[in-house]
Amino acid sequence: MEIIRTVARLKEALDTLRSGGNVKVGLVPTMGALHAGHMSLVERSCAENDVTVVSVFVNPTQFNNPDDLRTYPRTEEADCALLEKAGVDIAFVPSVEEVYPEPDTRIFDLGAVAEVMEGAMRPGHFNGVAQVVSRLFELSEADRAYFGEKDYQQIAVIRRMAQVMGLQRPQIVACPIQRADDGLALSSRNVRLSDAQRAEAPLIHRTLCHSVDMAADGATVAEVKAYVLDTLSGHPMMKPEYYEIVHPLTLQPVDSWAEGATGCVTVWMGDVRLIDNIKYPAKN
Ligand code: PAJ
Repeated sequence: MEIIRTVARLKEALDTLRSGGNVKVGLVPTMGALHAGHMSLVERSCAENDVTVVSVFVNPTQFNNPDDLRTYPRTEEADCALLEKAGVDIAFVPSVEEVYPEPDTRIFDLGAVAEVMEGAMRPGHFNGVAQVVSRLFELSEADRAYFGEKDYQQIAVIRRMAQVMGLQRPQIVACPIQRADDGLALSSRNVRLSDAQRAEAPLIHRTLCHSVDMAADGATVAEVKAYVLDTLSGHPMMKPEYYEIVHPLTLQPVDSWAEGATGCVTVWMGDVRLIDNIKYPAKN
């Protein structure tokens, strides 16, 4: 594996790797602090492509909270060791200046998918995600790019960005959420939970799972939403920010299960913000 820090070297290395012709390149964008969730994307890319590029870049333009950017975990050495072991060809670990030689002032038309939930709570966040992901797409010219459903809304926003930019490539591949044995969705932010918070955090996934059973047993969307919010806000360590039950593609709130739905939650535990989601099957 080559660790590459400059755009110039990335292009050169990819040109060389592509010179054999018909070489498929997979891209896995990350912000590092890698865990088994990220690695599931990396493994899939390695299995489906000839060359895998993993970017490790804490993108400042998507942080609307300077404290979050400052405290974001950075573990480059351990990350590169994991990537090497997984068989990655290139770890792209650029500086901010390499990615943004000039400030990126582009404003993307991300439409309604970016206006709800994370888009409403974190102004500018998705525009920053679109900036960095479009840049990584352009630099890598990848055939496929891998994203986790843990960030369900992010995938919808990236698909929209690719559509409005008229990109033919890469194909966007959505990968399932990886969880700890007790159900907590793996996240780089989990290391910031205290032992006591970590022990209670699986309530989020348990509650969402139970809510799917309730829906199957006839509960309405409004009843399921109230149950999830009441259960989580009833826990002394948890402060839910929102629970929205939305259309799986448009991400707009639904009031029936007719087309299936995705329930997206954000919960604060102390100063750690956890997100998770679950799918509700279509049902009349
Ligand atoms: P980051 O949070 O590092 O996540 C990188 C990728 O790993 C994202 O596609 C995310 O959805 C996926 N991922 C994280 N935890 C996961 C889990 N438990 N199961 C499955 N996939 C998981 O998301 C970002 O970085 C950034 O916004 C980025 C797309 C890199 C742009 O800066």
